Amino acid sequence: MDLKGRDFLKLLDFTPDEIVYLIDLAAELKDKKKRGIPMDTLQGKNVALIFEKTSTRTRCAFEVAAHDLGMGTTYLDPSASQIGKKESIADTARVLSRMFEGIEYRGFEQEIVEELAEYSKVPVWNGLTNEFHPTQMLADLLTIREHFGHLKGIKLTYMGDARYNMGNSLMVACAKMGMHFTACTSEKYFPEQALVEQCREIAARTGGSITLTESVEEGTKGVDVIYTDVWVSMGEPEEIWEERIRDLSPYQVNRDVMKNAGNKAIFMHCLPAFHNLKTQIGAEVGERFALTELEVTDEVFESSQSLVFEEAENRMHTIKAVMLATVSTDGKARKKRKVQAKVDPELLEGKSLREVHYLPDNEVQWILSSEECDVDQTGEFVVMPIEDAKEKFPEIKDMLSADSDQRILYRKGRHSSKWYDFKGKA
Ligand code: CP
Ligand code: NVA
Repeated sequence: MDLKGRDFLKLLDFTPDEIVYLIDLAAELKDKKKRGIPMDTLQGKNVALIFEKTSTRTRCAFEVAAHDLGMGTTYLDPSASQIGKKESIADTARVLSRMFEGIEYRGFEQEIVEELAEYSKVPVWNGLTNEFHPTQMLADLLTIREHFGHLKGIKLTYMGDARYNMGNSLMVACAKMGMHFTACTSEKYFPEQALVEQCREIAARTGGSITLTESVEEGTKGVDVIYTDVWVSMGEPEEIWEERIRDLSPYQVNRDVMKNAGNKAIFMHCLPAFHNLKTQIGAEVGERFALTELEVTDEVFESSQSLVFEEAENRMHTIKAVMLATVSTDGKARKKRKVQAKVDPELLEGKSLREVHYLPDNEVQWILSSEECDVDQTGEFVVMPIEDAKEKFPEIKDMLSADSDQRILYRKGRHSSKWYDFKGKA
């Protein structure tokens, strides 16, 4: 498996085999670390760690993992960089690519990390966005596999705000791995319908399933994993606490929930967690609403069913696997699989497509095979491997001919999206 030069932005971009490869590699690196076997094969390389939101686990995991691999790290906190304030994402990406062999980014919208990756010449790793938290997923999957010995068929129920990074990511991770995902929460907090449908299509191929329910009794009955996250995420306004407590209190993970799941079930949480009043925010919120614990009771958090600290440790081993797999060992990031291309409409006007030079690097040059192509505007094109395209957009399967190339061109038009497949390289 070769993932050199690949970004790690969301699990949707990876095939089940690629995800398993990263989990296997993490398990191997964990074993080596425990046995004191050095793995500093990336000496002389450096990574940039951009954090526009705070972090304990993700930052420490990236730093320790990078050092274990022999790499240097530069940490940029929200006040220490020009990103977005004085310098655009595109410019930042092009600057950092000239100094580092990889860039971690934690921030707000997924679009930002996607843009950073588009302009970066080195792999970009998503350290959490509002929509996705993919490195957390690898740690969670490793933890579940270590405990149960396998992933396929495992039933995981997520309670809380299932529309945000953790709910979305767990739903995708379960779909990819053939697991059964349930979002057990008030309907208002169900994940976005489009993502649910996309995950259902993936799950249909992997043997997994996606269920959305408001019933705690049904949603947690006999499941293997009960998972929750904070009710108010980083970047959300403080005023929202009242509404969240009102809406999500019925979905608190407590003794009854764990009993309903059964004594073989495990409890997981990405952390940090509000399970007592020993934090500033926990104490403030607790006092305001006369509560002593929020999304999970202290009893469950501290119980023998809780694997939260194993999960936290696995952040480091899995992040190490992502960096080792994607940083190029020849000191030069290889061409990315996904190439964004702005196409000059004059090149395409009114007739069949001709030779098109794809930006940003002219490494990719294709002749397109489209017969009728009514390009009337500047289109934004994405080239992606055919397997990824089939997974992401199942509707294209029927239009692929036997001699379709291994890549496919997708136009994100302002009107309808249109597909073109490639035949042959220029
Ligand atoms: N789980 C997680 O991402 O933790 P941090 O916010 O501490 O990085
Ligand atoms: N949903 C949480 C996850 C923290 C790891 C947040 O975004 O703050």
